[in-house]
Amino acid sequence: MTIKSANITPVVHGVAKHDRWAVNSHRGGVIWFTGLSGSGKTTLAFALEQALFARRYNVYVLDGDNMRHGLSADLGFSPVERSENIRRIGEVAALFADAGVIVLTAFISPYRADRRRARDACGDAFHEVFLSADLDACERRDPRGLYSRARRGEIPEFTGITAPYEIPENPELIVDTGRQSISDCLERVAAYAERAFVFGSSTIGKPAEIVR
Ligand code: ADX
Repeated sequence: MTIKSANITPVVHGVAKHDRWAVNSHRGGVIWFTGLSGSGKTTLAFALEQALFARRYNVYVLDGDNMRHGLSADLGFSPVERSENIRRIGEVAALFADAGVIVLTAFISPYRADRRRARDACGDAFHEVFLSADLDACERRDPRGLYSRARRGEIPEFTGITAPYEIPENPELIVDTGRQSISDCLERVAAYAERAFVFGSSTIGKPAEIVR
C-alpha cells in the first residue's frame, strides 16, 4: 500500500527480536487459519490458544467476529472491505509476532491476494493453515444458521454461496476439519506450532517437514 504521510522515518527497536524470543523461550509468529464460515477456525484457534498457553507459550487469538466489533467495526463484507479487514489483521499480526507473541488468526480471508499481503507483512513467521471442510460439510453444520439465511437471500455476499472463497494453493498445513475430529485437528496443529516456534535449536524458519 502507498504510504500517504510525508516526513516519517521508521525507528529501530532497542530490544532485539532474539532477546524477546529468549525471554519467552519460543519464537514469535503467526498461525493464519483460513477456511469457510463454519470450517472450525474459531473453535480450533481458541482450543490451540488454551493448549499452548497451558504449555507456557505467549499466545493470543485474533478472531474475525471479535475484530469486527472493534478494529474492523467500520467494515462490511464487500470484496474491498474484506481486503481492508485482512490488511489490518495482517499488520496487527505482524506487530504481535514482532513483539514475540504467537498469534493465531481466525478469518475467512477468502482472497489469495489478501492472504499473500498478510504473509508479506509477517515475513518468515507466517504459517498458513487451510481448514479444508467443504461447503457441504459447513452447510450441514451451520452452527449459527447463517447458511440457511444466506440461501434464503437474507445475507448478501455470503462466502461460499454468493461470494467466492479462493482455496489456498500452497499452505504450510492442510487440516481436514470436515472429516477429522476437533481433538485430532488440534493435536496436528499443536504439534505443528511447537515445531514452528521452537527456539534454541538450529532450526530457522518453517518446520522442515511440510505436513499435508
Ligand atoms: S473475512 O471475509 O473478512 O475474512 P471475517 O472472518 O472477518 O470475514 O468474518 C466472517 C464472519 O462474519 C463469519 O464467520 C460469519 O459469522 C460472519 N458473517 C456475516 N456476514 C457474512 C458474509 N456475508 N460472509 C461471510 N461471513 C459473514
